[in-house]
Amino acid sequence: MRNLEGKTAIVTGAARGIGAAIAKTLAARGANVAVCDLQAEWCAETVAAIEALGAKAKGYGVNVSDSAAVDQCVKGVIADFGGIDILVNNAGITKDGLLMRMSDADWDAVIDVNLKGTFLFTRAVARPMMKNKAADGSQAGGSIVNIASVVGIMGNAGQANYTASKGGVIALTKTTAKELGSRNIRCNAVAPGFIQSKMTDVLSEEVRANYMATIPLRRFGTADDIAKAVAWLAGDEASYVTGQIISVNGGMIG
Ligand code: NAI
Repeated sequence: MRNLEGKTAIVTGAARGIGAAIAKTLAARGANVAVCDLQAEWCAETVAAIEALGAKAKGYGVNVSDSAAVDQCVKGVIADFGGIDILVNNAGITKDGLLMRMSDADWDAVIDVNLKGTFLFTRAVARPMMKNKAADGSQAGGSIVNIASVVGIMGNAGQANYTASKGGVIALTKTTAKELGSRNIRCNAVAPGFIQSKMTDVLSEEVRANYMATIPLRRFGTADDIAKAVAWLAGDEASYVTGQIISVNGGMIG
């Protein structure tokens, strides 16, 4: 399916993991991709994979929690690609610890990247997306997909900062959908469950076994499972879907 032909997508945190899978899936469907991560060099592998698919790609070094850097990045993408149709706010970090012992620094760091970063990129692309025109001159708008988490819906001991950031992303998704809907800009979130990745590889066998027991489909998810849901929300097949949180979690509660 090449339903994203001619579209330009920004994917944050796309050097590796779920973000890299999202970037490649969007490219496989025809999109050109601005591959954003903390350092441009880290994006080389994802950029090469996208180019091998015949799409255009470029790596950008940007800290999503730095307002000026985000604005600069969006300006660069518009100069390089001519506009922005799709934004995927995927960059995210964890700094786990029990609430009573959590430092201010660990709280702030996670909120800054996961929640503020999502806000900053959304704000920066809103105006450019409003200017997008369809072939018949109507407002083409755009699609914003935020990566939340099942724990942003249900909470999780040891992740006060992370769960609050993802709960915030869910509320921000709904508000963005309400504010920008009249301009044909849709905003949805994908809430992954337990996805095999560098972020989850560090968990103990016991924790992994406990999670597995709560998953009706009896397997951990893959980055591709998330990427396919994002690609659907990004494209016109989801043209009447906005403000929704799509759980991709193998049936875990959420
Ligand atoms: P990862 O740690 O493998 O990749 C995250 C990427 O974001 C890295 O390339 C990193 O350099 C980049 N990044 C971190 N801070 C950044 C910043 N300030 N500015 C720009 N880029 C930054 O993580 P993974 O597992 O691929 O997660 C991706 C998203 O999916 C995150 O939002 C995460 O919270 C979410 N998620 C992951 C789950 C999992 O099981 N792995 C489950 C639920 C949600």
